[in-house]
Amino acid sequence: MAIEGVMRSGHVQIRVLDLAAAIHHYTEYYGLILTASDDRRAYLKGWDEFDHHSLVLREADEPGMDHVAFKVRGENDLDRIEGELRERLIAVTQIPAGEQLGVGRRIAFTVPTGHRIELYATCEQVGNGLPLRNPDVWPDGLKGMKASRFEHVLLYGPGVEATVALLSSVLGFVVAEDVVTEDGARIGAFLTAASKSHDIAFIEAPEARFHHLAYWLESWDDIRQAADIIRKKNIAIDIGPTRHGISRGLTIYFFDPSGNRNEVFSGSYQHYPDRPTITWDAAELGKAIFYYEGRLNEAFLSVTT
Ligand SMILES: [Fe+2]
Repeated sequence: MAIEGVMRSGHVQIRVLDLAAAIHHYTEYYGLILTASDDRRAYLKGWDEFDHHSLVLREADEPGMDHVAFKVRGENDLDRIEGELRERLIAVTQIPAGEQLGVGRRIAFTVPTGHRIELYATCEQVGNGLPLRNPDVWPDGLKGMKASRFEHVLLYGPGVEATVALLSSVLGFVVAEDVVTEDGARIGAFLTAASKSHDIAFIEAPEARFHHLAYWLESWDDIRQAADIIRKKNIAIDIGPTRHGISRGLTIYFFDPSGNRNEVFSGSYQHYPDRPTITWDAAELGKAIFYYEGRLNEAFLSVTT
């Protein structure tokens, strides 16, 4: 196995105002599968994920993100990374196994942008609804947009450069694409842990905010059908269907009932360690974010949770 350390984005825990309304949105429309819930939290997964969950909804008074978690190859990676964080005088919190249903022990720390990052090595596997021997190509009973797997998050906050330095040096992330100003300041960074175009992205902003979470759809045709569902079900839409210049991904942005931004994402490319970083001038940010429109919409910069 060539991938060591951080393998991929594993799960994200977000806050929602009404748990029942959120479960309805994420299962019936986004097409995630509910694997467990209590009166405080609900656990969901994309259909083609094997782990117990990739999204946790927590009922709270304000929307936003509690944390995003990355899955590492083994328990020894947690110990090694914790040691390297402590060497850099970064506080690390231990979260015992079982705090989230099915998930082993986690470690947590805060990056300079102000967001909480967590790492874990083990999660109960519940399967993707297909047998491991001679499977069909999709399981019965899929709903809505049929989101297949957790893709990435985009976060706004101060200190993108320092955050990139930390995630690169300790967690082994690579900058697949970035955005720089005329005087060379990096105001956007799209980081990959392994083979995706990005597992996490940051945009420089005055305070720590949550911009969106994305799930993967298999094709442009699935993106089109997602647009049909957004209109049919009167889901609040931000923009799309359109395409990103950064990542070349096909996309729609829309909102859950609490105002958290969702994305359905497809296309894009695969990242390999010898792929060079692609840099965008800040003056070209419109084309970089919304390639077809060539300019940002008002919501992209101003609406976060
Ligand atoms: Fe995205």
